[in-house]
Amino acid sequence: MDAIKPLKKKKWVLPLIFSISISCFIIVFSLFVSNPFQPRSDIKDETPIFVESKLHVAETQPFSRIPRLAYLISGSSGDGQSLRRTLKALYHPLNQYVVHLDLEASPEERMELVNFVKTEALFVQVGNVRVIERSNLVTYRGPTMVSNTLHAAAILLKEDLLHTLSNVSREFNFIEHTSDIGWKEWQRAKPVIIDPGLYSRKKSDVFWVTQKRSVPTAFKLFTGSAWMMLSRPFVEYCIWGWDNLPRMVLMYYSNFLSSPEGYFHTVICNAEEFKNTTVNHDLHFISWDNPPKQHPHFLTSNDYQRMLDSNAPFARKFGKEEGVLEKIDLELLHRKRDGFVPGSWFEDGGDTNSTDFHYTTTNITTLRPGQGAERLKNLINGLLGAKDFDSKHCI
Ligand SMILES: *[C@@H]1O[C@H](CO)[C@@H](O)[C@H](O)[C@H]1NC(C)=O
Ligand SMILES: *[C@@H]1O[C@H](CO)[C@@H](O)[C@H](O)[C@H]1NC(C)=O
Ligand SMILES: *[C@@H]1O[C@H](CO)[C@@H](O)[C@H](O)[C@H]1NC(C)=O
Ligand SMILES: *[C@@H]1O[C@H](CO)[C@@H](O)[C@H](O)[C@H]1NC(C)=O
Repeated sequence: MDAIKPLKKKKWVLPLIFSISISCFIIVFSLFVSNPFQPRSDIKDETPIFVESKLHVAETQPFSRIPRLAYLISGSSGDGQSLRRTLKALYHPLNQYVVHLDLEASPEERMELVNFVKTEALFVQVGNVRVIERSNLVTYRGPTMVSNTLHAAAILLKEDLLHTLSNVSREFNFIEHTSDIGWKEWQRAKPVIIDPGLYSRKKSDVFWVTQKRSVPTAFKLFTGSAWMMLSRPFVEYCIWGWDNLPRMVLMYYSNFLSSPEGYFHTVICNAEEFKNTTVNHDLHFISWDNPPKQHPHFLTSNDYQRMLDSNAPFARKFGKEEGVLEKIDLELLHRKRDGFVPGSWFEDGGDTNSTDFHYTTTNITTLRPGQGAERLKNLINGLLGAKDFDSKHCI
């Protein structure tokens, strides 16, 4: 999910909750500025000796006390339905969304999604949902991978997320990370892979090159969860590339297996000016089997209580039409079937059919937090208030 609206000057937190792909960069990029080549007004016309002294990290001057989140919701063939469901569960007029169905999905499925977005009166009125029409081919495990964000679902969304984040510094990047790459050194860092998705229109698996490479010495490798919420300044740093680090690391990761589990982690932890903004958590509840298998297990009603107790706003992964999703809709989001999550921003005219709702988006900045806000606050306060928070970045 991303947004392609010109938003010059407005400063907002940019949480990207996704598994990263190269496509995200372009998407997110367009979110920031209408014309990226226009000189920034704060850069003076003097000729400095070092070009770096002209460049600096954008300051976060909040446009409003309430942050805005930008989501990338991405899926592949057969995910259309889950994608629509995720979008509705995450929707708030203050945010920005980009939905993406990769090239493997049929043109019909993509058209269906486009029609859904075009005919939902609210999306048309607010104009904050976009569909990427030029889809990307996404290869599982390859650098083109955008894993199933669909399987991430809001556990306690409502306006809770916005409410609680209103109080949190927008500098923070919620990114789970470690430099202890362990088995990944041999399995991930040394092998060299090629992702056909970079040059082919046909989907096929990544393949391995027979030679191995050594672990880099120009920067230190970090690894962690592919799910994250990043700040706008950091995303700008990655996309605008005034420093060469993000570009170099990106090129390095184009031959790396499961790059979504390392790219941003490595960039942020090697960038002195961003290192201290990391919060070592991915905001997700994920349940691994013991011993862990390659994938976490699908969440069911048996996981519900633990999921709730984790205080995390997101969870993965969910099967399609899984019963626990109904439970979340009903008990946590108070969302009617196919409807939006109630909040102060809309008046539900008493009709249970979303398409018939008369939404009045009068006061979208007065939030009506629920219990989820309290849970999220506990999680975030715990993370930021940890005794060794200041000394535990990027280790
Ligand atoms: C924001 O922080 C202040 C001071 O730490 C606290 O009193 C207040 O309850 C917090 N509000 C929210 C919404 O978390
Ligand atoms: C980051 O935090 C460390 C430890 O508190 C401090 O020494 C360092 O100066 C900080 N770096 C920046 C860029 O603020
Ligand atoms: C909602 O829609 C369903 C079918 O789409 C219809 O059967 C039902 O009567 C509608 N309910 C209301 C309250 O309009
Ligand atoms: C929205 O609500 C806030 C607080 O209640 C109020 O200050 C503001 O003026 C309202 N905005 C509109 C457009 O009604």
